Amino acid sequence: MPSHSLAPQTRAVIFDAYGTLFDVHSAVARHAARIGPEAARLSEIWRAKQLEYSWVLSLAGQYRPFWDLTVSALDYAFARCPGVDRSLSPLLLDAYRALDAYDDVTDVLDALRARGLKTGILSNGDPGMLADAVASAGLSDRLDEVLSVDEAGVFKTSPAAYDLVADALAMEPPAVAFVSSNRWDVAGATLFGFPSIWVNRLNLPDEYESFAPVAVIGSLRDLAPSAAP
Ligand code: LAC
Repeated sequence: MPSHSLAPQTRAVIFDAYGTLFDVHSAVARHAARIGPEAARLSEIWRAKQLEYSWVLSLAGQYRPFWDLTVSALDYAFARCPGVDRSLSPLLLDAYRALDAYDDVTDVLDALRARGLKTGILSNGDPGMLADAVASAGLSDRLDEVLSVDEAGVFKTSPAAYDLVADALAMEPPAVAFVSSNRWDVAGATLFGFPSIWVNRLNLPDEYESFAPVAVIGSLRDLAPSAAP
């Protein structure tokens, strides 16, 4: 295991869910032909608004389950893309409950667990949507913990959300590698004290430079090089 990714004191690897383990754009991709030329734009607006709503609520001291935000964000995305048939909404929401996992996920979880490391999720997703996503991707037996910020009643990047991990695992933050494809999430986890790893699958430019990850990787496989390519 490369020292640049997982430090020797690592005892658990905790993953963000949406965008890191699950491809949030796979719901729209599955129905792209029926959505038409605005499919990619619809998906981008859907994701951006879902996240924006989480931050606005948290700053205002409010909380609603992430599923509600996901539904509201899709409504807004439809309003911004009037050429798309709104009757596709139930299909898209069903697809969001069963997103594709990236193809590196199962191998890496198996490889990390084979090394005696605990694995888990900390997600903004509420428990119901996370349970559906984990089950449909066949990850139920590959994760020691599936933690939802719902328990804290506040979204990432609140420290109270990251604290759920330290509590559930009874580990100090330096023992937990936190892995996310969302650079804002990496910033929050770093501020909390987790050695954080940014999965930059899309080769995006860096940001939040003051809250830097300990490593940047292009694929989850870089966490466990023995995982099948
Ligand atoms: C998650 C989303 C926000 O927490 O990526 O899973």
